[in-house]
Amino acid sequence: MKPGFKLAAMAFGVGMCVAVGGAVLVEAQAPADTIKARQDKMKEIGGANKKNGDAIKEGKIDAAEIEKNALAIHALSKQIVTWFPAGTAQPGPGAETKALPAIWEKQADFKKAADDLGVAVAALAASAKTGDAKAIEAAQGEVGKACGGCHRPFRAEKAS
Ligand code: HEC
Repeated sequence: MKPGFKLAAMAFGVGMCVAVGGAVLVEAQAPADTIKARQDKMKEIGGANKKNGDAIKEGKIDAAEIEKNALAIHALSKQIVTWFPAGTAQPGPGAETKALPAIWEKQADFKKAADDLGVAVAALAASAKTGDAKAIEAAQGEVGKACGGCHRPFRAEKAS
């Protein structure tokens, strides 16, 4: 992530110029930066989840690694709702989004879907501690369901 992105995301709603590397001037498009920033965060969740999924599928379970990734997703799951401020349903210049208006129309349900992910990854972390491969596999299945439990109602198939 360019240093300007985080700064611009924090300055959401404020039109401003950010100096990147002291040379290039970037006109911050607040909604677009917010969309890109949250998609990067979602990719972080996706990356950690894929590491666990692949390890489990390949039968190469490293309990400490599974727990570490699960806890990383857990921390991120607590932030999900904040990545979707009002007014970012529609793409800004330079960014497409799959976020559906339902996120803002059904905030309580959206928050619950984020909480459900938190519960599922906490259970995965706990199962990793037991080292029981079957339990870990089952817990990872529940994590996958929690991703889908939000993506189905709140994420479009195609970006707009
Ligand atoms: C509470 C809702 C919610 C949960 C839970 C959730 N996601 Fe997402 N995710 C979204 C939304 C909404 C988008 C679309 C964001 C956009 O395009 O602006 C998204 C986008 C993504 C993307 C695409 C990012 C990009 O490059 O555009 C990935 C990958 C992803 N999610 C992975 C996951 C995984 C893996 C899980 C479960 C471990 C998960 N998500 C759980 C709501 C959620």
